[in-house]
Amino acid sequence: MTVDQKVRQTLAELGVTESAGVVALFAEVCETMERERRELVNRVAADKAERDRACKELRDRWLARKNGLLSLVDERWLKKAPRELKPVVGQHFNALRKASEQLEVGVLAREMKCRVAASAGAVLEARSPIVAGTTVLSGVSPDLTLPSIRRPLGSMHPVTRVLREIEEIFIALGFRIETGPEIETVEYNFDALNIPETHPSRDDWDTLYVDEKTVLRTHTSPVQIRAMRKYGAPLYVIAPGKVYRHDKPDSSHATMFHQVEGLAVDRDITFADLKGTLDYFAKRFFGEKVRTSFHPSFFPFTEPSGEVAISCTLCDGRGCRVCKESGWLEVMGCGMVHPEVLRQGGIEPEEFTGWAFGMGVERYAMMKYGIDDIQLFFQNDVRFLKQF
Ligand code: DAH
Repeated sequence: MTVDQKVRQTLAELGVTESAGVVALFAEVCETMERERRELVNRVAADKAERDRACKELRDRWLARKNGLLSLVDERWLKKAPRELKPVVGQHFNALRKASEQLEVGVLAREMKCRVAASAGAVLEARSPIVAGTTVLSGVSPDLTLPSIRRPLGSMHPVTRVLREIEEIFIALGFRIETGPEIETVEYNFDALNIPETHPSRDDWDTLYVDEKTVLRTHTSPVQIRAMRKYGAPLYVIAPGKVYRHDKPDSSHATMFHQVEGLAVDRDITFADLKGTLDYFAKRFFGEKVRTSFHPSFFPFTEPSGEVAISCTLCDGRGCRVCKESGWLEVMGCGMVHPEVLRQGGIEPEEFTGWAFGMGVERYAMMKYGIDDIQLFFQNDVRFLKQF
């Protein structure tokens, strides 16, 4: 009679009337269970689905609540045991139940996985003394099927990404990248740029002063002076970097943000060169369909000065919420370098002319990715950053 048949009968039906018979019966069940378990884990199925299926099958055969072999033992042998045999049946049943924990799917699967790994390890061991050494050292076979420790890959910050894009466009046009200090002198930040003593931007409501002669630069324009003094003319540079303003943070203002400054100085440089370059830049950055428009403006360091607008990237110039129904988005300030600024840079304005521009990088990133709050760039919320 097989174990499967035996567990479907009561002890009385099996003719077991004393402890020795009970012990023998349980030993047989235990042995069968262990044999089946061993057969399964030795079957080394490399395919996970196949492994899972086999584990579940064995587990259900023994542990299923309904008609699992253990349930049958419980019902037929234990519950129906004559009173004098109850203690010994109970005791052995408990031991059997304990042993049957080895049949839980998780335990089986783990064991099988180790076997697969060990067999793979054995192949490696034969080939590589290093792996063999590791195996011996750690005392356990390496589980080559376990997922490796994966360091999550970060991504570039959207501001950095946009900065790089802007830089690449200008580098391809022959501009070089120049940087300057973020803690800047009043001379470079204001004086040399022809910004008069009385100019409101000098106010400490707008500018963060370190001391009387030093500020956190409010724009990247001082790099114009630094570059001119360093290289002379002809000169084609862009200056990306952080700038600081004494502003109350809101959805469009931040105390720190990024600008890219541009400066071209050469013989016979005209406003037409400026327009052509910035139009080309806008089309490369925002797409071929974009149109540019130049409006007169005022900056102390350029004369004439202009404001550049592009046709709204969202509505294509038809007018929408983003462009406040105007069809245009202002994207930078620009102009012909003021002769006084060239002179401050050590360049002779009779011989050379030049143009300059300055743009806010966060604003570009906001337009490009449809972001409506500048603060998102600085909060470093991974849910936001992950999208880039
Ligand atoms: N520095 C200006 C600002 O921060 C931007 C700017 C305007 C830069 C015109 C320039 C320029 O080089 O020509 O608002």
